[in-house]
Amino acid sequence: MQDTASTVAVLATGGTIAGTAASATDNIGYSAAQLGVQALLDAVPALAGQPLVTEQVAQLDSKDMSHEVWAALAQRVAHHLAQPDIAGVVITHGTDTLEETAYLLQRLLAPAKPVVLTAAMRPATSLLRDGPQNLLDAVALARESGARGVMAVLAGTVHSALDVRKLHSYRLDAFGSGDAGPLAYVEEGRVRRLRDWPAGEPLGLDRIARGEWPWVEIVTSHAGARPEAVRALVAAGVRGLVVAGTGNGTLHHALQDALLAAQAAGVSVLRCTRCLAGPVLTTPAERLPSAGTLTPAQARIELMLRLMGGA
Ligand code: SIN
Repeated sequence: MQDTASTVAVLATGGTIAGTAASATDNIGYSAAQLGVQALLDAVPALAGQPLVTEQVAQLDSKDMSHEVWAALAQRVAHHLAQPDIAGVVITHGTDTLEETAYLLQRLLAPAKPVVLTAAMRPATSLLRDGPQNLLDAVALARESGARGVMAVLAGTVHSALDVRKLHSYRLDAFGSGDAGPLAYVEEGRVRRLRDWPAGEPLGLDRIARGEWPWVEIVTSHAGARPEAVRALVAAGVRGLVVAGTGNGTLHHALQDALLAAQAAGVSVLRCTRCLAGPVLTTPAERLPSAGTLTPAQARIELMLRLMGGA
């Protein structure tokens, strides 16, 4: 069905792509999430007349993303994917938590059609606005025959939801895929694929249906790390802790002792690296489980989903 369907659902959530500033040369003093989905599309003449359906699911700066918006977005994505005339879904999003939303949607839905997140590093009023091209590329990818899974496209580069991460705070080409490398490129509306589409078993929307997202925090190991932060979180009722360790997930001894005590008290712990790339390789003697190749932000989502599944 998806190979003959051509309509793309564009779901907007805000971000810099919908941001405006008082001056075209101001790329940092802008307000995110000002323009609605139709205004984003109007800025891309090449999309005029194409079969699109639109929905404004949220309007926020993605630093303020909430579990409630995630749940609403996941439900709307699933709704649109279930329509036979829909080829794929595009989500316009802020860059700051795009990688979290992408990972969550892939784990929940692992869709058989493409779901493409896109964003912009410059507001819609900027001299060098990147949103319109990114949106055009996202629609092309959402219509790509045979494409599946959750992805992100920015600056012409396609990243799998399982690997994508924001690497730069300002550059237009701000995203990467770590060791995995890009999934594809979009060039003049054509998709040049380098490796397999994102895959996996979907957990399903039932996993989040109760709306009770367990409290999971991220702590970091560093010189002079102290155990009190972990103890305070445990005393306050945290259900899970992700620790961003040094190098191969190693931990300051004071933090490690506090995390082992937390684990013994029933708090779930996952160990990541604070390095920008690379897995946490484990030995049989390791007492705090590794999150493998997951970044701390991904591991926090993974741990919440496991806890919601009764782990
Ligand atoms: C946001 O994440 O919503 C603001 C920053 C951005 O989109 O680049």
